[in-house]
Amino acid sequence: MERRPDNMHITTFMLPAGYHKDSWRLPGSRAEELGFLDFVLELTLMAEAAKLDAVFFGDIVTADTILRNDVKMNGLYEPISVLSALAARTSHIGLIGTVSTTFSEPYNLARQIMGVDHMSGGRAGWNIVTSSQGNQNFGLEEMPDPVDRYRRAMEYVDVVTQLWDSWDADAVGTNRETGVWAETSKLHRINHSGEFFEVQGPLNMRPSTQGRPIIVQAGSSGPGIELGSTYADVIYAAQPDKALAQEYYENYKRVVAGKGRNPDHVKILPGLVPILGSTQKEAQELADHLAEQVNMEFGVTQLSASHGMDLSGVDLDDRVPAELFPETFARSRSEIFRRRALEDKLTLRELIVEDARGTGHGFFIGTASAAADHMIDWFNDRACDGFNVNAPFMPGGMEMMCTQLIPELQERGYFRTEYEGATLRENLGLNLPDPVITRD
Ligand SMILES: Cc1cc2nc3c(=O)[nH]c(=O)nc-3n(C[C@H](O)[C@H](O)[C@H](O)COP(=O)(O)O)c2cc1C
Repeated sequence: MERRPDNMHITTFMLPAGYHKDSWRLPGSRAEELGFLDFVLELTLMAEAAKLDAVFFGDIVTADTILRNDVKMNGLYEPISVLSALAARTSHIGLIGTVSTTFSEPYNLARQIMGVDHMSGGRAGWNIVTSSQGNQNFGLEEMPDPVDRYRRAMEYVDVVTQLWDSWDADAVGTNRETGVWAETSKLHRINHSGEFFEVQGPLNMRPSTQGRPIIVQAGSSGPGIELGSTYADVIYAAQPDKALAQEYYENYKRVVAGKGRNPDHVKILPGLVPILGSTQKEAQELADHLAEQVNMEFGVTQLSASHGMDLSGVDLDDRVPAELFPETFARSRSEIFRRRALEDKLTLRELIVEDARGTGHGFFIGTASAAADHMIDWFNDRACDGFNVNAPFMPGGMEMMCTQLIPELQERGYFRTEYEGATLRENLGLNLPDPVITRD
């Protein structure tokens, strides 16, 4: 199939500890600086020089992972504060941050993301998550079940988008003669009254330069897809298998079209961890070297916690016995784990390494040229609209992505060499959204 005329879109999952678990143990990782600005700024500037669409910060609101010695994926960077700092020091790259709808109020969130949007000149994005952990920090005895979380999320996002649309685009007139800075007739109450929220509106901030900040979503369950297909501009997916990714892509676009939205305006970006070398052998050596960093004892604890099963009695070089697996898992990722353990017969050690490498996302071990071929193949065969690339170690993995992999894509005409616009929406090639509020 011919490639589509639009270019690939590439964001990067910004984990300054490195995406590969325990890669921070490598010399030169700058792990001493995790949580502070300078290092993450340097990584972001590298990504901007490579013309990536956006940097993306995930978030969880609990220290549980750190308590299990998993430093990679955590809340060391609070998204709104780090994005605000990056906004001031970058000029084109998109700034996407995760905020949970389970532990916050929509009026606060609408302001925070709009704040990042204004501080960056229209480059903000919000990754909506409903969170599967963290209730103990918010006075909740248990996590609400996923269906309830998504019900709240649907209403939450509805309120946020209404608030973002509550000013007409031309509301700020700055009329010195009349003394009217904003025409109040162009500000609209939203008068939302729902199951979870009562919000009068309007927002107390001027409208976004990009029409509305970008909405990102990564839900893969039924309610997750319902939320994403209704509101999101970008969908993150954990899809390591091409055929399954194609199926997911086709299905998702169909659901989007069924809602009367243009499927080309919802960009599906699976995760990819590129482990690169100047030869295949060198890349494999790097993969092996990264695997050697993994603390197996911590790996057992982390894998047990991820899948809700006790692996502590299993020898590292044995297979996981079938009877240890529960009948059903809470997370779809765990089913892949079951398949790898029982059907593909990986040992516990191999399972730990695989988890450390990809955490459910696809990885590629090879030259930059071969990695570019792989990405183009997925793109052309409609398995994706681009990728959320996860640098396996820092800063080297980010350098490899930006100075080896991206140039390969650029040479083949699959990635921009200059930003097309000033806002994230322009660079993603998305139209201004239709306002959600009926004007009075
Ligand atoms: C690339 C990517 C990033 C994600 N980032 C976060 C995150 O930062 N915080 C979080 O709580 N969940 C995160 N998730 C989990 C998703 O929000 C979602 O819960 C998961 O994909 C399962 O879908 P479901 O909730 O519809 O079952 C992420 C998922 C993906 C694929």
